[in-house]
Order: sequence, then C-alpha cells, then structure tokens
Amino acid sequence: ATSHPAISLPRLIAHRGLSARAPENTLAAVRAAHRAGCTWVELDVQLLGDGTPVVWHDATVKRCSDGRARLADLDLPRARRLDVGGWFGDEFRGERMATLSEMLALVDALGLGLNLELKVNRGRSAAALVEEAVPAALDVLSPERLIVSSFSGEALACARDLAPAARLALGVLFEGIPDDWRQRCEALDTFSVHADWTRLSGRGARAVREAGYPLLCYTANDPAAFAHQWAWGVTSVISDDPARFAGHLPDRE
Ligand code: G3P
Ligand code: MG
Repeated sequence: ATSHPAISLPRLIAHRGLSARAPENTLAAVRAAHRAGCTWVELDVQLLGDGTPVVWHDATVKRCSDGRARLADLDLPRARRLDVGGWFGDEFRGERMATLSEMLALVDALGLGLNLELKVNRGRSAAALVEEAVPAALDVLSPERLIVSSFSGEALACARDLAPAARLALGVLFEGIPDDWRQRCEALDTFSVHADWTRLSGRGARAVREAGYPLLCYTANDPAAFAHQWAWGVTSVISDDPARFAGHLPDRE
C-alpha cells in the first residue's frame, strides 16, 4: 500500500472558510473559522488573468464583490480595488480579494489544515493553475496539513506529476460517486474521496470507507438532514456553518 501523509481529519471542515458568518473565501472567513474552533478549512483557488493565484469560487466577481468582471479579465491591481466583503455585511466592507500566498500565510499562522480546491472554471487552463498553486501550497504547509482536491481529473493528474503520494495528498471531487470511482482514485493515488452528500448512497459511502479512503462530504448545513449520511461512515462534513453540528455527530469507535 502507498504511504500518504499522516493526515488526521476533523469531523467538521469550514466550507470556503466560515462562509455562513463571513464573506466566503476571504481572510476574514478563515479567521472566523479559527475563532469558531475549526481546525481545517476548504478554500477554492483559481488564476486571475495575469496568472496570480487567488482564493475565489466563481468565474466572475459579480456575486461576491462590488464589481462585475470575469476573473480571467482582471489583473491583481484591478482585483484589489474590489470590495469583496460589503456584499455579505457592512462589518466586512473593505475586505480585499486574497491572493493564495496571503491566504497560505494566514492558514499557516493559525495552525489550520487546508483542503485547497483547484477550481477549473470553463475555458481556463488546469495545468497553469496547478503549476502556480500546488508548489506554493507545498512550500508553506506541511503535507499533514494539506489536501488538494478538484473536480478536474486533468488538474489532479498535473498535481500528481508535481509531487508523489507520500508528499501530496490528493482528493478526488465527485458529485455522485461514479461506478469507476476506485479506478480513478487508484490511477492518481488519491488520499481521499469528496462527494456531494445529497447524492450519496449508503452503498457508495461504505464502499469508499471499506477501501480505506477518507470520505469528505459537502456542503451539509442541516445536522438533522445529514444524520443519515453520517451513519454511513462519512469521515468529515464540509459545512458553511460547522457550529450547527456541535453535539450532532456521534463519536465512532
Ligand atoms: O470542495 C467541496 C466543495 O467546495 C465543492 O463545491 O462549488 O462549493 O466549490 P463548491
Ligand atoms: Mg470548493
């Protein structure tokens, strides 16, 4: 069996930082997650038009800033002029888009673990993103505190070319777990499987766990609705509001 980094996953991971309480994917959201007691955060990374890796989910800045541009059309000075906090709440006005390097420094300073999702939006290069983002993350965080995940098989393959399984934990992101999930994981020597909890079946979940892979489920915000899936052996819940789960996830032996 391949050796992977000795990653100890928590039961709860803050999705895009503590995105129920602070603007998603910002430094403020990561600080809020840390204050709330989270030990791991999930964040999305992609490239600006000038090649700078930034922490951002959408292909445009419309939903989460006071601007409208596509990320691919922005350079760093223009991206920095955007207010990325005011849309969420007045107290976050003045928040600026985080570069990956600023975010990595904060994650490291707070002692957090990071699930970095390589977000390959339509028309963008997977290889360029991986070459910028993955070495940067490996430079700052120890392998025990990093999982790089993606829906893009191409991005995962590029990441695997950069570092072996013992140094870089990869997570394969699925919506529903496909029939060939195991071949896809074995081909890339992935560490973990990440799936949409609303598409999870008991059979799929148990197959992943019995094969020895951690199973991370996104994005669960209702503990009562999620209880069923938790009972199937899910390793970690990725939630916008992890505090809502306090006391709702029974311990496992
Ligand atoms: O990494 C889990 C989850 O974040 C994947 O979906 O769209 O929220 O990035 P999305
Ligand atoms: Mg994500």
